[in-house]
Amino acid sequence: MSSSDIYRELILDYYRNPRNFGRLDPHDIDAKDSNPLCGDEIEIQIQVSKDGKMEEVHFLGKGCAISQASASMLTELAKGKPLEWTKDLSKEDILKMLGTSDLGPARIKCALLSMKVLKTGVYAYLGAKPEEATGSQDIDH
Ligand code: FES
Repeated sequence: MSSSDIYRELILDYYRNPRNFGRLDPHDIDAKDSNPLCGDEIEIQIQVSKDGKMEEVHFLGKGCAISQASASMLTELAKGKPLEWTKDLSKEDILKMLGTSDLGPARIKCALLSMKVLKTGVYAYLGAKPEEATGSQDIDH
């Protein structure tokens, strides 16, 4: 099995058995967006600790394997990290997390939807505009 097969398996496993899927109540952050190309949706909810860490991170949504697996993996990656960590999160980090760099432009949008939602939520919570630090030109539709 090649390493890209292993990552493909991993994406399918997260799609079929999503970690951190479901509502998180109570939550401090709630953000939602969709991919206009297909209508698929991701919503991310976060509990923030007193010292500004993402204590619990959950997601809800519907869509393709890559968008849902990416959201699920991202909740695991973000959990326990300070809110500021989100500012440095990049497209490259997401592709590394998914274990692939050979996604076409349509699939890239699927992969980055959850990052966009996470940044939108955290920036709204911190009182800043998402465009200020997301490099969002990469993920605009
Ligand atoms: Fe809709 Fe992937 S096809 S997000």
